[in-house]
Amino acid sequence: MISPTLDSIRIFLHLMAVAVWVGGQIVLAGIVPRLRAENSPSLTSVAQGFARVAWPAMVVIVFTGAWGLGTIEVADKSTAYMATFGLKMLMVAAAVIATLIHSMGQSKAAKAIGGAVGLLASLAAAYGGILLAHVH
Ligand code: HEM
Repeated sequence: MISPTLDSIRIFLHLMAVAVWVGGQIVLAGIVPRLRAENSPSLTSVAQGFARVAWPAMVVIVFTGAWGLGTIEVADKSTAYMATFGLKMLMVAAAVIATLIHSMGQSKAAKAIGGAVGLLASLAAAYGGILLAHVH
């Protein structure tokens, strides 16, 4: 069997937390409109329950991402790698800010635009990660 390494555990944790953050938003996008249509009193509770799982997942993402960055020799990386990494960080910042606007905002626009931008920026950050890890 291939021996597990610390690197593999770090990437596993990064990706599992990404799965919770992105996957949870997509699942909620399917559930929330149904709860809203039924005028369900559970809507707020469901959203808050997800937030309680999603934000710790984001902490794990940032921690394991910074850890991964610490394992690479930045000076050896190409300009293209660093540009992609910079764009990925911009997407992460946009995802966090948009998601905060989504969860703290009260207006329909804050909910809709914050939610959509949060998900799209998260997907872009994930794709940036794939470029960094698998395309050279
Ligand atoms: C401060 C935040 C983050 C940092 C510093 C960071 C850093 C990194 C680095 C350096 C890699 C290269 C692979 C490696 O670790 O060896 C990577 C991979 C990756 N990241 Fe992040 N990341 C962050 C946030 C995110 C977010 C928010 C997402 C998605 C929503 C994400 C998704 C991915 C994916 C999908 C990979 C590819 C892993 C693979 O296939 O091996 N990252 N990240």
